[in-house]
Amino acid sequence: MKPRTYTIHSHRGGSGKSVIASSIALELALRGYNVLLVDMDLRAPSLYYIFHEPLVKYWINDYLDGECGFEETLVDVSEKYGLRGRLTLSLANPDIEVVKDALTKTRKWEMNALKKLVKARKLASELGFNILIYDTSPGIHYSSLNTLIASDYAILVVVPDNVDVKGALSFVREIYDTIKTKAFLIVNKVPTSNRDEAKNIAKTLADQLKLPLLGAIPYYHEVVRYNGVKHMVLEVPEHPYVSDIRNIVDKMLS
Ligand SMILES: Nc1ncnc2c1ncn2[C@@H]1O[C@H](COP(=O)(O)OP(=O)(O)O)[C@@H](O)[C@H]1O
Ligand SMILES: [Mg+2]
Repeated sequence: MKPRTYTIHSHRGGSGKSVIASSIALELALRGYNVLLVDMDLRAPSLYYIFHEPLVKYWINDYLDGECGFEETLVDVSEKYGLRGRLTLSLANPDIEVVKDALTKTRKWEMNALKKLVKARKLASELGFNILIYDTSPGIHYSSLNTLIASDYAILVVVPDNVDVKGALSFVREIYDTIKTKAFLIVNKVPTSNRDEAKNIAKTLADQLKLPLLGAIPYYHEVVRYNGVKHMVLEVPEHPYVSDIRNIVDKMLS
């Protein structure tokens, strides 16, 4: 069976995609799922740092450039974090020269990259992964479009400020209607500590965007403090951010 594939997407950078992608992946692996998490944000890679700079032999960039097989990019962190299921990463290279190179790829390269993503998904299924998660670039860059095309579901992360909302409104119609990837919404960094109020703000936004709501996450300063230092799902499991993530994962699985 093909792994269920999700792209975590947004209109703008900084909306919380990478933290959400890594938290969801960890929570799923804690529950016993075999999860493959791929950093397709070649323009601003961050999973390498979020997962504390593990030893990487080949990057996803190398695979997309045809320099190695997809298996050779995989880094298993299940044991390191004591997870019940498997959590395997395929990481993007944060080296500045490589990031610059990723900004100037040709259309031909992008088309080939799409083929490679489809191939990677097939391999993920052969390797026994149940769930494949892509963290991606914001906006309508080719790499995010490719990733969305190669996914079953898109999870759009929106911050409820007027600029992000306005952008997201035009964005949803442009992209998800065209690609026909089933999309869900997470409203992140909601500026209130009252969870009912956060939910109401998120519901209003979900209605505006006409997307089913997967979760409303308040702004928590601990998320900033722990990012790249501690995995909250593992090390601060009593924090409300983690219960928000658990609720989202429950919905993803239902
Ligand atoms: N719910 C939240 N509350 C507070 N800060 C958050 C929250 N979610 C993410 N952040 C912070 O926002 C910043 C951007 O998050 P990141 O996941 O890197 O965004 P993206 O991948 O969309 O660019 C980070 O400093 C992160 O710690
Ligand atoms: Mg990111």
